[in-house]
Amino acid sequence: MNEIEAQKQYMKKVRKINQNKTFKYTILTMGCQLNENDSEKLCGMLEQMGYERTENQKEADLALFNTCCVRENAEDKLFGKLGELKRLKEEKGVIIAIGGCMMQEKHITDKIKVSYPFVDILFGTHTLHKFPEDLYKALNEKKKIEDVIDIDGEIYEGLPIKRDSHIKASVTIMNGCNNFCSYCIVPYVRGRERSRHPRDIINEIKELAKQGYQEITLLGQNVNSYLRVEREKGIEFDTYEGINSFATLLKAINKIDSIERIRFVSPHPKDFTDDVIEAIATCDKVCKLVHLPLQSGNTKVLKEMNRKYTKEQYLALVEKMKKRIPNLTLSTDIIVGFPGETDDEFEDTLDVVRKVNFEQVYMFIYSRRVGTLGDRMKNQIPEEIKHRRFNKLKTLVEDQIVENNQKYVGTVQKVLVEGESKNNKDLLTGRTDSNKVVIFEGSKDLIGTMQNLKIVSEHMWYLKGEI
Ligand code: SAH
Ligand code: SF4
Ligand code: F3S
Repeated sequence: MNEIEAQKQYMKKVRKINQNKTFKYTILTMGCQLNENDSEKLCGMLEQMGYERTENQKEADLALFNTCCVRENAEDKLFGKLGELKRLKEEKGVIIAIGGCMMQEKHITDKIKVSYPFVDILFGTHTLHKFPEDLYKALNEKKKIEDVIDIDGEIYEGLPIKRDSHIKASVTIMNGCNNFCSYCIVPYVRGRERSRHPRDIINEIKELAKQGYQEITLLGQNVNSYLRVEREKGIEFDTYEGINSFATLLKAINKIDSIERIRFVSPHPKDFTDDVIEAIATCDKVCKLVHLPLQSGNTKVLKEMNRKYTKEQYLALVEKMKKRIPNLTLSTDIIVGFPGETDDEFEDTLDVVRKVNFEQVYMFIYSRRVGTLGDRMKNQIPEEIKHRRFNKLKTLVEDQIVENNQKYVGTVQKVLVEGESKNNKDLLTGRTDSNKVVIFEGSKDLIGTMQNLKIVSEHMWYLKGEI
């Protein structure tokens, strides 16, 4: 029996324990879109086991956390929540399960076992698919479960999934990362790069197309190195629809009827080969917003970060892409205050931001991560300086956003209508190709369709449109 079949049996067993009752669960997902996609799979499994989602902690029978450890603030958040749950555990015996990236860190699981001994299940990134088995054992044998392994988990196909949206879907195409940027914990908690088989990806997307999904986001920690490791190692796989790289995958997905938009995160500049640029330029469904993580604009800092490109190479790549891809927009990730970064070196980051003129910048204050090279570097930057740099970058970015937003006013934008606006149920919300939020008036049956909207005004984080 294969692993997923075995887990399906456990799902049945849990369902049997839960017979005639509906149990409720809460789930808190921290971290990136990959974690969100993992959570959709956890929800899929839970619903098959007879659980129903609630947002109200007090009525939950099971509280699930899918954790992130990329920066320190996520840790504080988890421990705060666990403190709150202690009473609920004592009062009604809620089952508490914690999974995800943080559970791959031994100092964290040790801390949980000592300080929060009431937690029932700990599981890691490589054992997510075994959640039904872990839950069954926790319920049936009433014992604490720790299911964390340190070897790269296989990619399992065929887990149930409960997606958050009926319009946009995320599809993980590869797991893990081989880059070991010196600030980053991800390679330690997600293991080495391994790609899904092209056939499984295409079949999943064709199925999503049948269900009416309009937009697909391809996910991977290093998404544009899809199948690279397999190619380099000479691993044989029966090619499917000619797919043997990220570029050929984009082209194959572009041919799938009724999918309107294709996005992907996060690519690495070093793997942004010409064939990928070509594919973005020629595939009409691939959005022309590219997320291209910069991290720092200074060549020396980039070297210390182990990013494998210089300031000039990054700028040259941007120029090449702008030339080849009409209407290209870019977004990026930036870290300020990496060990040893001087004021002058930080100025290089501002310089690149000015030159590229990003549509969106995700800004982070450097956070020391146990086990990484960066954490062992002697020249850590004082918090106060990090915050000063962060604020300087933020001011520049916000000025650019306001300026970029002006360019939209008066234009017509193709918008995928995603639903009612959160702040005002009478309005609809959608996104442009460049991922800008547009709020507008319209009838509810436009949800899930593409509309051409005239942009009438800009408001920093969103645009207002009219049909
Ligand atoms: N694999 C993706 C995303 C990694 S995590 C990529 O390479 O782009 C998302 C972002 O978090 C990173 O791009 C980086 O900007 C930020 N990040 C990662 N580790 C960090 C740390 N220790 N401190 C602050 N920001 C960090
Ligand atoms: Fe982390 Fe770098 Fe890998 Fe991204 S590419 S996950 S930043 S190590
Ligand atoms: Fe966080 Fe893990 Fe994603 S550490 S950023 S949830 S891969």
